[in-house]
Amino acid sequence: MSETTTFPTILSRTEALKYCRAEGIDRHIDLEPTDASIAPDPADLARIHQLIRGRKSFTVLEFGVGYSTIVIADALAKNRRDWEQLQPEPVIRNRFMFHCFTVDTSEEWIEISRNRMPEELRSFVTISHSGVSMGTHQGQICHFYDELPDVVPDFVYLDGPDPKAVQGKVNGLSFQCNERTVMAADLLLMEPTLLPGTMILVDGRTNNARFLKNNFRRDFDFNWHRQADVSTFELNEERLGKYNKLGSDFF
Ligand SMILES: C[S@@+](CC[C@H](N)C(=O)[O-])C[C@H]1O[C@@H](n2cnc3c(N)ncnc32)[C@H](O)[C@@H]1O
Repeated sequence: MSETTTFPTILSRTEALKYCRAEGIDRHIDLEPTDASIAPDPADLARIHQLIRGRKSFTVLEFGVGYSTIVIADALAKNRRDWEQLQPEPVIRNRFMFHCFTVDTSEEWIEISRNRMPEELRSFVTISHSGVSMGTHQGQICHFYDELPDVVPDFVYLDGPDPKAVQGKVNGLSFQCNERTVMAADLLLMEPTLLPGTMILVDGRTNNARFLKNNFRRDFDFNWHRQADVSTFELNEERLGKYNKLGSDFF
């Protein structure tokens, strides 16, 4: 695992708002609401959008539904538009081109997010519900979604679950303990079948990012950005073959 300097640009709020408006994201999301409990963070949303656009991502897996889901769908719609310009269209082994799979524990927020999703972006997103259960990874406590979308993403956004949604105990320990940080281990489960070049963006959850860093076995480039409170992982391996190339290989 190597620490690298390659990282998405950190935008100020003004720059992020400018980026979101230029991309038309403000058509879909009120970027400066007066009432929401968790207001959209333009810097977070711009970062996600820039990364997915910059990498021409094909298939996204998102943990934690919300405004980000709309932004991901918008970026994928634009990636498809660019892809359709390629003639002849390259052949890729992927049934889920330009699609976002979001998993969440809250039926309420799934419903809210489905209703918020602009009509023109709905075909780019599948939102599914799943419980989360406490478990262990090599004797270390952590948690896993009970039902993950059966896909191989090339971009992952880790921003869920809510720790209070984690069920179960291990030797009396639980995630109902307020002092215990979230510790999602789903990506350790998925690691062996991830494709070279895959990127993982972790929003906050620094303890969780370090757990993944310490337990991933493959060669990921890791980066933690304290100021922006985000971490990234990039699977730094040679492509498997022509059918497993990623969007960034074609632009
Ligand atoms: C950190 S939020 C996820 C936010 C989402 N990824 C985003 O960037 O907009 C974690 C959980 O809170 C719930 N949630 C989503 N949007 C919310 C909002 N605006 N206010 C409160 N809770 C929210 C969802 O159940 C989600 O899994």
